[in-house]
Amino acid sequence: MKRVLFVCLGNICRSPAAEGVFLHLLAQAGATDRFVVDSAGTGGWHVGKAADRRMREAASRRGITLTSRARQIDLGDFERFDHILTMDASNLAHVQALAQEAGGASGARIEPLVRYCSRFAASEVPDPYYGGEAGFEHVLDLLEDACTGLLQALDG
Ligand code: 4NP
Repeated sequence: MKRVLFVCLGNICRSPAAEGVFLHLLAQAGATDRFVVDSAGTGGWHVGKAADRRMREAASRRGITLTSRARQIDLGDFERFDHILTMDASNLAHVQALAQEAGGASGARIEPLVRYCSRFAASEVPDPYYGGEAGFEHVLDLLEDACTGLLQALDG
């Protein structure tokens, strides 16, 4: 079983969308039962909330349903997950600092999700929260590209 955690800032836009995109690809590949997939935020402001309505609507237009509720990453996640994929440099720094705190408990591989992109040359999945509709579409384009690469890397 491979255990994958997607992390952004609020856990209401990018990481729940990454979780939904990856689950969608797993279902298409018949690989759902080989993975545990979750998402979390480095911040706690939105804990318990559904994904942002704009993100849910954009995903829905691509046939992807986002069902996750926001939660904040905790030190136990570094034991519960093998792969932790971050969206931007700030998330990465935050998660790496937490991994230091988790100390020996952390066997998780922590890396930027865009590392798995092949169609896009992006340095991050940009935060769409304060922008317009196009930002959400761009996030989904990046996530579909990166999650396709991630699935090939983990299940290839
Ligand atoms: P996310 O987007 O990190 O992709 O979930 C954000 C959502 C909310 C906030 C920032 C980013 N916020 O500051 O409330």
